[in-house]
Amino acid sequence: TQPVAYRAAIFYSLGDPAKVGLENSFAWHEDGVLVVADGHIQDVGPAPEVLNRLPAGTQVVELENRLITPGFIDTHIHFPQTEMIASYGDQLLDWLNNYTFPEERKFADPAHAARVAKLFLDELLRNGTTTAMVYGTVHPQAVDAFFTESERRNTRMIAGKVMMDRHAPEFLLDTPESSYADSKALIERWHNKGRQLYAVTPRFAPTSSPEQLDAAGRLLREHKDLYLQTHLSENRKEIAWVKELFPERSGYLDVYDHHGLLSERSIFAHSVHLEDGECERLHATGSGVSFCATSNLFLGSGLLDLARLERFDVNVSLGTDVGGGTSFSLLQTMNEAYKVLQLQQQKLHPLKAFYLATLGGAESLRLDDKLGNLLPGKEADFLVLDLNATALMHARTQNAQTLYEKLFVLMMLGDDRAIESTFVYGKCQHGKNGV
Ligand code: GUN
Ligand code: FE
Repeated sequence: TQPVAYRAAIFYSLGDPAKVGLENSFAWHEDGVLVVADGHIQDVGPAPEVLNRLPAGTQVVELENRLITPGFIDTHIHFPQTEMIASYGDQLLDWLNNYTFPEERKFADPAHAARVAKLFLDELLRNGTTTAMVYGTVHPQAVDAFFTESERRNTRMIAGKVMMDRHAPEFLLDTPESSYADSKALIERWHNKGRQLYAVTPRFAPTSSPEQLDAAGRLLREHKDLYLQTHLSENRKEIAWVKELFPERSGYLDVYDHHGLLSERSIFAHSVHLEDGECERLHATGSGVSFCATSNLFLGSGLLDLARLERFDVNVSLGTDVGGGTSFSLLQTMNEAYKVLQLQQQKLHPLKAFYLATLGGAESLRLDDKLGNLLPGKEADFLVLDLNATALMHARTQNAQTLYEKLFVLMMLGDDRAIESTFVYGKCQHGKNGV
């Protein structure tokens, strides 16, 4: 197909500011051009240079006063919890029993699952999230509904069926054998089908028997490049419960480690209250931590110490954790992450925040050859942002001269209103500027 060029300000990450230094961590073209063809980035750079080498007759879409960034990557979210976001009053274990499990029961019905999958993907794209690592429920038909809807939009999504064989209501339980067989069938149907990828998904240690965790490990060994997602050390009561349930293991992470669940494609959501040895194991195995700031505050779980994870060189990315989290917006998630770190006398530089929401997510998911920034050859998932989207942002943007200031305004005041359009594999899937 014909290439299309988009002219706007362009920003993307090139590396972790903590590793390469702020100055080397990004690309910024105040007047830039991004060229897209066949779902991929073909060229990017300053407008005079790129326009000069553009094939004659290429369509140029002028996006005045707009900023192009890569699509956001959310490494932890639950699609079945969309309609229970903002459930009042409880912390993790009561919240699961009182709100979450009754809500997830509804996903036995494929029509319900299909309706919520649509709503969920609409909401992700409205918020500029183009890739997410997504929990289903225990029902394989709900995961089919999710992948069907994602495939229709051609979004690159990673998802899986919850494995849960104890300590939850009867109506939500599977068994080690059925969870293995159902997961395996889903892997065969969806893993690497187009842009879809599969994650083995034991809910968390308390709701899986050792036999089921073994089955999860077996699935990972039997298939190439599968993902694993689960929850880790989110809440103090949860951690105490895991120690009671698995007295033979040295700690929470060791429960997963013992069953072979740590890998370069494993993401552990929350990981707020880790021991030093656990940080070392996460680093040694190349596992990732999903920092779920809005959820950790909303459920009163705790404050993630990002500087400590940096010292242990653990991969970190951002997760919204909807419905424990309170927003689909990674801009709002950056906002709350900033405040979580302020409470610990740490700073979240806007370049680090945008890195975590884009390239950091891609690196944690081992998709940085395909996603995370706008270098030529990558898949064309990108956003058109409007820094003047609200009256307040407009007023504040007048006083934001440097790139750092503009990004900071965006992460503190921005939300879905700042996302003018969302492009997926080169095609506009939300908002204006479709061509
Ligand atoms: N731990 C086990 N299940 C869940 C869940 O659904 N949400 C969160 N935030 N933590 C969990
Ligand atoms: Fe979660």
